[in-house]
Amino acid sequence: MIMKRVFLTIAIISVLFIIECKKDTAYTPDCSGAVKSYKTDVKPLISSYCAQCHNFSTYSQLSANAANIRSRIVDGSMPKNATLSSDQKNKIVCWIDSGFPNN
Ligand code: HEC
Repeated sequence: MIMKRVFLTIAIISVLFIIECKKDTAYTPDCSGAVKSYKTDVKPLISSYCAQCHNFSTYSQLSANAANIRSRIVDGSMPKNATLSSDQKNKIVCWIDSGFPNN
């Protein structure tokens, strides 16, 4: 009886701990690699992860919203229905930070 409660308590504490740790792993951009390309790095990600809900499919639509897009990707609030890996975030964020070239 008591053992069950002890295990339950430990389980709940562990779950809460894991949730807290996940929140703490905030994303920090790493732009040490090569300058990112709109065509090969950014456009495919936008088509897969954003196009269902947003009109960001052309260069001009995307560049016009670059600052907003950057902050939503850094804070992880977009894409709404998925989570990008740090590598995927880096591609978009670093492309924007390099002045979003149409390359
Ligand atoms: C499943 C639908 C969905 C997907 C996929 C999605 N978004 Fe969104 N997005 C929304 C909705 C709904 C809002 C408005 C509500 C809000 O701000 O949370 C929004 C708001 C935004 C805004 C703020 C708009 C503004 O004018 O301030 C930006 C920027 C944005 N999304 C970027 C993106 C990017 C970049 C992606 C892909 C990486 C993406 N979204 C994927 C649904 C989506």
